[in-house]
Amino acid sequence: MTVGADPVPVEDPAFFASDCDGALAGLRRECPVAWQESVGSWVVTGHEAIVEISRDPDRFCSRLGVLPNDRGRLVAASDSILYLDPPVHSTYRKLVSRAFTPRRVNGLEPRIRALAVGLLDAVDPGSPVDAVDALTAPLPLDVIAELLGVPRGDRGDFRIWSDAVMAAATELTDEVAALAFELFLYFDRHLDARTAEPADDLLTALVTAEVEGQQLTRQEQLGFCMTLLVAGNETTRSLLSGGLVALAEHPEQRAALAADPSLIPAAVEEMLRWVTPIMAMSRTATGDTTVGAQPVAGDDYLVMVYGAGNRDEAVFGESADRFDISRSPNPHLAFGFGEHFCIGASLARLEARVFFSELLARWPMYEIVGEPVRTPSTLLRAVTSLPVRFEPSTR
Ligand code: HEM
Repeated sequence: MTVGADPVPVEDPAFFASDCDGALAGLRRECPVAWQESVGSWVVTGHEAIVEISRDPDRFCSRLGVLPNDRGRLVAASDSILYLDPPVHSTYRKLVSRAFTPRRVNGLEPRIRALAVGLLDAVDPGSPVDAVDALTAPLPLDVIAELLGVPRGDRGDFRIWSDAVMAAATELTDEVAALAFELFLYFDRHLDARTAEPADDLLTALVTAEVEGQQLTRQEQLGFCMTLLVAGNETTRSLLSGGLVALAEHPEQRAALAADPSLIPAAVEEMLRWVTPIMAMSRTATGDTTVGAQPVAGDDYLVMVYGAGNRDEAVFGESADRFDISRSPNPHLAFGFGEHFCIGASLARLEARVFFSELLARWPMYEIVGEPVRTPSTLLRAVTSLPVRFEPSTR
């Protein structure tokens, strides 16, 4: 077990909030599958190695933990489908994946556009605004609230609860646990309401869903609600905020996008690669095995750093550490890979496409007028606050 380069402190919540790409690249070049004593895990930074692990749930399972710091914590399968392995995983996944097929999701476009336009209408161009509070946080919250079938008016609470559950992925404090419990109670009430009065939404799909003739337990229903709310929120927010920053730092590419909206889908893929909102997920080796040429022992934990795989020169070439909205192909790992590939990928992509097309059509020029505040986390690369001034358009 050798580490050829300096270890990277993936266990430190400040690390992903810092300019960590150089340190991750150093490790990846020296040792893409490196044992790191400080975390008691393998830190996997190579694209090929991450794909090898993700595509083989028999050798690398999710049931013993998926969050970088799940190791040592007792995880329950009912917490989330993230912790399920085949064959049971696909049975549960089918229960909700129907709501997220590209066709179903594309049908949501007019509604998502209306929500985005409503948020942009409320912004006063010319005056500094926190783009996270005004735009990038509320859009994914409103979209997921509508899909689940809970009032959009609860958005304020939703953000607090959802952020608390994400914060719990880094550190479970009493305050965060109390907020997460409030969210459980909230969903519990709404699930009761849908049992009494079904509607055309995801909560109803969950209370009526059956696996082998059995309804889901309330614990399982709640696990789904939490995963759907939380997985789609801060992640999409981070994509939108990080995309705003990337375009501000590359004004010529922003101008090209504003001039030609047909470039937006490829630009969103590049934002996904560049930002990598979920920086790392983990697996456990089910027996003695190898990753590439590296032997790995049974029960070893492997932290796959997607953010490092997404800058791998072996896949993205010499321009791997450049933001390039015309990159093609772009086999990034921002949505994971394999069995657990993100269910909400089409939705997140659509939200980002709509958001940037509406924003740039209205205000092609904007400026970041203060230091972005980054969220400390062992899981996410996210921005808590982003002061922006949009220039009133002269077009
Ligand atoms: C930019 C936004 C998003 C990013 C970067 C992202 C990222 C990811 C990643 C990396 C995984 C894989 C986890 C693993 O392999 O263990 C995942 C899974 C998942 N995501 Fe997303 N996600 C995003 C948006 C969404 C949205 C909008 C939803 C739903 C509303 C969603 C729901 C899920 C669910 C349910 C899973 C679990 C899938 C499974 O275990 O089979 N995500 N996501």
